[in-house]
Order: sequence, then C-alpha cells, then structure tokens
Amino acid sequence: MRLRPLQESDLPRVLEIERTSFPAPWSEGLFRSELGREDRFWLVAEDACDIMGYGGIMVVRDEAHLLDIAVEAEHRLSGIARELVWTLAREAVSRGADRMSLEVATSNREALALYTTCGFDIGGHRVGYYPETGDDALILWSGPLGRHVRAIDAARSGQDLVLAIETSCDETAASVMRGGREQLSAVVASQVDFHARFGGVVPEIASRKHAEAVVGVVEEALAEAGIGMNDLHALAVTQGPGLVGALVVGVAYAKGLSLATGLPLVGVNHLEGHIYAARLSDPDLEPPLIALLVSGGHTQIVHVPRWGEYETLGRTLDDAVGEAFDKVAKLLGLGYPGGPVISRLAAQGDPAAIPFPRAMMRSGTLDVSLSGLKTAVIQYVEGERASGRELRIPDIAASFQAAVVEVQVSKTVQAATDHGVSSVVLAGGVASNPALREGLRAALEPLDIRLSVPPLDLCTDNASMIAAAAHDHLAAGRVLGLAADAVPNMRLGA
Ligand code: KG4
Ligand code: ZN
Repeated sequence: MRLRPLQESDLPRVLEIERTSFPAPWSEGLFRSELGREDRFWLVAEDACDIMGYGGIMVVRDEAHLLDIAVEAEHRLSGIARELVWTLAREAVSRGADRMSLEVATSNREALALYTTCGFDIGGHRVGYYPETGDDALILWSGPLGRHVRAIDAARSGQDLVLAIETSCDETAASVMRGGREQLSAVVASQVDFHARFGGVVPEIASRKHAEAVVGVVEEALAEAGIGMNDLHALAVTQGPGLVGALVVGVAYAKGLSLATGLPLVGVNHLEGHIYAARLSDPDLEPPLIALLVSGGHTQIVHVPRWGEYETLGRTLDDAVGEAFDKVAKLLGLGYPGGPVISRLAAQGDPAAIPFPRAMMRSGTLDVSLSGLKTAVIQYVEGERASGRELRIPDIAASFQAAVVEVQVSKTVQAATDHGVSSVVLAGGVASNPALREGLRAALEPLDIRLSVPPLDLCTDNASMIAAAAHDHLAAGRVLGLAADAVPNMRLGA
C-alpha cells in the first residue's frame, strides 16, 4: 500500500467509494471545492492497481479537523484507515497543529472503533447533526498529535522508549524497554507475602498494595534505566484480564501520567504480554505458533497466526492450572503459592503411584477441566486419612502433577499438529514447572516443533512483556484515549 496526495483524476474512483461508504456521501462538487486549497490536505491509499481509500484534513492555526476518511468495503480492517489517520496527523503536525477533531455518526461503530483506538476521546455530542439520516454526531478529539506521531515513528524505527506498568494480579511491575526487545529496566514488587496467609490472592489487599507501590516502582524503573519521563516515547499498561480493582490502579495511574506528560498510552492484554515474553528471550521466534498459557488465573491454548492476531482454541472449563496447584497445596498444608512447592516435592515422588483421572483427554476439544482432578485428590487424601495411613506427600504431588502435565501436553501437541505450526510457546507462571517443560519438550522434539520457554522472571507477571507487546501496538498506531478503562474480562483477539 502507498499513500499519495489526491489528484483530480482520482475523483471518479473516490466518489464511487464515498457513495458505497456513507448514507449521506459528499458530492462531486464538494470534493472539487477541496482541491488546490492551501488549508486542505487530501491523501489516497492505493495498491499496485487501484485506489482503496482516501482521507482529508483541514488545518486552521494549531487545530486540524478530519474531514472525511473512507476505505472500500473489501479492504476494511486491514489497517489502511489507521494509516490514513496517522499520515494525515503527521501532515497536521508539520503544519503546526497539535490536535485533531472530527465528527462521526453515533451509529458508525466501525469508525468509532478506529478512532478510539487511535487515541481519540469523545468531546461533544450533536443531536440530529446528520439531517439525511437523523443520526447524532459525536465530536471526537485526538490526543497531542506531535507526541503520538513521534512515538509511532520511533516504534517503526525500533527506537521507541516505552514505560510499561503491570498491576493485573499480585505483582506491581514497571519496565522500560527500547524497541520492544531491549530491556533497560525491570522492577517487580511482589505482594505474595501479604496474600500467603490467606492461601490465595485477596483482591482488596491487591488493590491497596498496588496503590501503595506503583509510584515507587515506576520511579525505580526510570532510575534503573537511567532516563527521565521526558525521554520516553510512550506509556503502556495492562488493561485486562485480571482483578478489576488491581487493574484499575495501573490504568488510572498510567492515564494520569499520559495526561500530565502528553505521552501516548498503549493498552495491552495481559495474556498477549505472556506470549510476547517468549519473543524477549527468543528473538528469532516467529509465528505461526501455538501458545500454552498457564498461570494462577488462566489456562488457554492460543493459535497465533501472526503477531497481534489470536485465536483461542481451548481453555479451562473451571480451575486454572496454577489454581489447581495452589488448591492441592492448600489441602496438603503446603502453603501458598502451591506450584513451586508441589513441583519440588514431586521430584522426590512416584508419578505412577496414584492413578488420578486425566479429564477430557478424549473429549475431542482443546478445552480442559481441572476440578475433577482436584476432587479426586481430596477424596484420595480423605480416604487415606480415614484409614489411618500416613500420607505420602511426594507421591501425591508427583501423581497429581503427572495427571495435569499429561493432559496439557496432549492438548498442546494436538493444537500444534492441527495448525501445522513450527513453534510452541509455554508461558505464564506455571511455565516454571520442570515436569511440564520437560513433558512438552519430549513430545514436541520428535515432531520437529521448537519449544520456546521464557526464563523464570519473564514467565511470572512482569512489565517487560507488556512493553514488548506495546511496541507492536505503537508501530501499528494503536493507542488508547483517556476514556479507556480496565477490562477485567478482556479477551484475546477481541
Ligand atoms: O503468571 P503468574 O505469576 O500469576 C498469575 O497471573 O496467575 O502465575 C502464578 C501461578 C500460581 O498459581 C503458582 O502456583 C503457579 O503459577 N506456579 C507453578 C509453579 N510455579 C508457579 N505451578 C506449577 N509448578 C510450578 N513450578
Ligand atoms: Zn500472568
């Protein structure tokens, strides 16, 4: 795709796209009156053979107004409109404007989705603005264009400095990263000690601890990177999924920083971050790939055909894998978090000692269920206790772990072969489980599928993985407006 200034000879094609795009299209006369005006700037987007879209702005002193953007139906959702927005913004900046406004019909969902993911916010509402349809118009305003364009251009040349903040669960984390791949600092304040005595994460405590820690963690991340807020190109924050009260702290803080500094803000899906963690430790990793995401809150198998595109193939119907480890550890009196202690004890036990169930092994789907296994462990422990036998904890740990690993490995291998990928990523806190790593490695090696597992500090929650994903969003021109909020049940690829 190429962008170039609109010429008179483009008008027939432009009018054709205009008429199929809007209920009240611009007339030929209106387009003609735009041509050759000093205060206007119009672009067309074309590929080798045809014009696919166009857009124009009017610039008055330090403000730009987006007059019109349209992309032919069959080329929509391919990033052309976004490219038009930012190229027009770049021109507006070069003419001295730093804000852009536009009007959009309240019923035009597609356009609203585009502009709100280009950092525009609703600044007004005009009732009955479009007489032809009776539709209302929303007035949208961009963020500071100069800062946005500078950040996008830096990302495209791999030089963007991004500060990312992660507060979705029980770690307050901040990282500074250059070009999405070079980590300049990484600070993680874990709250695990505050939650341990309750045997799990207490949401109310998590929010309070994030609020206490976030300022210090961000300051430390900047100091460790040896830079100031003004050196940054953009901010990034985990928008979801996670605990709502925890996410809100990070999102509100990041929005405050964005407002105060004018830096663009990128919203990242936490699970997407976990996948990008693998790219940090394995720079040659390329999609298509399958990711097994296993943590205390999530268990899913995701197909990644290209960076930024996700298709969830299967998920847990009940407990997350990490949650099952935590619950079994609690039952055995081993404390919290349960994963590390169970995997340590399992190394000394016999994985074949107790035949725990392998749920949904032959279900034909890539979904898993862990609550039956948890119940089986409870029943086993109660049975042993009732008959007065001493519990062989290492054997229980090893047998439980073996049941979990066997199902996870089988479903992941199934997904990888179904989609013909050459790489599998293991991510999330449970990726630190040696049996799961080894089980996957052993199953994938004969199939010539490479396994990518980030080092421990990138497997558990951290902000570097959020910065890594944010880099790609920024390069694509995807940023949040200040109306953006935490999305506790955010889905991948939605
Ligand atoms: O990704 P993470 O740090 O936080 C969440 O987003 O949940 O994952 C924490 C989870 C906990 O449930 C913990 O028990 C589990 O990961 N975990 C493990 C191991 N290390 C941590 N599970 C199994 N084996 C391990 N070695
Ligand atoms: Zn996580």
